Amino acid sequence: MSDDTEPQKTVRLWDFPVRLFHWALVIAIATSWWSNQEVMIDIHALAGYSVLALVLFRIIWGFVGSSNVRFSSFLAGPGKVIGYMRKLPNGSVRDLTYPGHNPAGGWMVIVLILLVAIQAISGLFASEDTFLFFDGPLVAYVSSDVASTMNFIHHTNINLIYGAVALHVLAAIFYLMIKRENLIGAMITGVRKVPESIAAGFMQIRFASPVLGIAILLVCGLAVWGMVTLARG
Ligand code: HEM
Ligand code: HEM
Repeated sequence: MSDDTEPQKTVRLWDFPVRLFHWALVIAIATSWWSNQEVMIDIHALAGYSVLALVLFRIIWGFVGSSNVRFSSFLAGPGKVIGYMRKLPNGSVRDLTYPGHNPAGGWMVIVLILLVAIQAISGLFASEDTFLFFDGPLVAYVSSDVASTMNFIHHTNINLIYGAVALHVLAAIFYLMIKRENLIGAMITGVRKVPESIAAGFMQIRFASPVLGIAILLVCGLAVWGMVTLARG
């Protein structure tokens, strides 16, 4: 997709808090999954609480963060999404590059955040009484019907996460191998190389203070920790 004849410019794309959120989320989900395989329920719960804090942070950051990570900036109507998907096979870099999530990717971001939020919240009400004797911190506050529904959701929704994450990673590999666009590198370093003719759009991104982002993340962590500690009594 890259037009080799046009000079490239390095532009800033993702703020530090969003990159921290992304890779911390990947580590926390992987840890939840792995600790479950290894039946280490305390680590499983801890990783799950981290996911909850990260999701809480991302929702707030979607309203007060840098201009291109706000939900209002990347959630497009169906017309734009379909238009983007049509251009995807043959579109030029100019057609397909956005100073943020593209119209299709933007909705995928919402799906991923919703799925991991459902997983972490249902975990608070999940229990295992035959082998691990573990109750999620909020089990005691709900009826056994609600608790068993939450248990069911926790065990079913994980399959949707597997599917969505597989699609997400395949999409990133598709852009890298087929479109020759390194979106993964941009999510790590925060910068991206784009043709000079479209660099102006990236110059208009208003970056929020990373210190504010870290402060909000810490408050979210404290809020989840406080909730769990209070609930356990
Ligand atoms: C997004 C974060 C989380 C992920 C990805 C996750 C993932 C999983 C997975 C894959 C299973 C096994 C499901 C199965 O065998 O069908 C499981 C079971 C379980 N999870 Fe989570 N979980 C998360 C958060 C939590 C939290 C926050 C808690 C509670 C504090 C929790 C408590 C449990 C319990 C009690 C089980 C049942 C254990 C068992 O049946 O062996 N999870 N979780
Ligand atoms: C547990 C696994 C993962 C989850 C839950 C996940 C979730 C997400 C979320 C929520 C975003 C949106 C970022 C934001 O605006 O806050 C995102 C973006 C992104 N993720 Fe992941 N991710 C996962 C794994 C990965 C992996 C393994 C890779 C690399 C191969 C990757 C590559 C990317 C890239 C490149 C973007 C930016 C997409 C764009 O340019 O629009 N993700 N991911």
